[in-house]
Amino acid sequence: MSKIVTIVGARPQFVKAAVVSKALNNAGIAETIIHTGQHYDYNMSSIFWDELGIPAPEKNLEVGSGNHGTQTGFMMQKLEEYILSSKTPPRALMVYGDTNSTLAGSLVAAKLNIPVIHVEAGLRSHNREMPEEINRVVTDHVSNLLFCSSEESIKELNREGITEGVHVVGDVMHDALLTFSEKAEEMFTLRDIIPGVHGEFVLATIHRPSNTDQAENLKAILQAFGEIEKTIVWPVHPRNKATITNLDIPDNLVLTDPVSYFKMMILLGNCSLVITDSGGLQKEAYWMKKRCITVRNETEWVETLSGGWNTLTGADTSKILAAVVKDPETNWKPLYGDGKAANQITKIIKEELF
Ligand code: UD1
Repeated sequence: MSKIVTIVGARPQFVKAAVVSKALNNAGIAETIIHTGQHYDYNMSSIFWDELGIPAPEKNLEVGSGNHGTQTGFMMQKLEEYILSSKTPPRALMVYGDTNSTLAGSLVAAKLNIPVIHVEAGLRSHNREMPEEINRVVTDHVSNLLFCSSEESIKELNREGITEGVHVVGDVMHDALLTFSEKAEEMFTLRDIIPGVHGEFVLATIHRPSNTDQAENLKAILQAFGEIEKTIVWPVHPRNKATITNLDIPDNLVLTDPVSYFKMMILLGNCSLVITDSGGLQKEAYWMKKRCITVRNETEWVETLSGGWNTLTGADTSKILAAVVKDPETNWKPLYGDGKAANQITKIIKEELF
């Protein structure tokens, strides 16, 4: 029977795949999941599969870490070997978001003339210094079915001449939030996650190389954190652990290991403010009706900026501090669909490919 092959490799992709795989399965569409191994620590990978009940991957390509070319090239080689050795070629190959795993999967499939399905298509930061921007642009241009979170993404794709196979379905991360929040609350309390923290706290995640690998940017961010008169809880990405723990950390900063999806939901639900350079967390903060400060100069999730729910500050101490005390200017309104994106995606895949 013909099947969809799904490529995942990095933490946010596991969350997205959890809901889409379930919807595909419910609709009777066969799927095989390949894990590239881009994220491999227990806290960055297995914990998500266990917690979210994602079907076990048929294969782990075990790419591990490396420079962009090495990492992407290795994944492409292994993935191509896997597909060519499969008895039946996949009906289509599905990728999520904008990581090197996304790029590797889409390029291999496109070269083998296998239709590419891109979930979270059409996002643009218009900053080509971000590796993710290159990954998104290339992936969209070789994709056959492009699932967008909002109309804004359709406009971006149209501007680049991509008009075929484009659908607005909403955002699968919203599906995930609605699907799993209750279970997260049943499983963990705030005290389980941050036992020593009492009262109001800010939730922070900073992991982008532009912030963490440039000493002056990291210094500016830490200075701002030190001047915020609240506890700041920061689950640290492993790539940054060595750098951050070697620095002079302000006393109000509580560093933790990376947390699972459920634990992140609990932290989000209980924090008073989010400070991040993550893409996904900007949306999750919005859906949880939390104010967000994005420590970047641009965002792909432009809709979250309207009404002051999300503020761009870059790695600028005074801009971060000014944003901390700013309230949203307008009432919250729903963004990125109604939490049924995975079902929409499945319906369109069935109509178009099976
Ligand atoms: C990747 C994505 C980024 C996404 C992030 C989500 C690309 C180009 N970037 O960034 O868009 O926001 O995932 O988390 O694909 N490391 C570990 N253990 C792990 C994984 C990584 O220690 O399980 C460390 C290694 O030192 C590694 C570094 O993190 O070199 C970077 O990992 P990599 O997968 O290349 O990129 P991320 O920064 O995780």
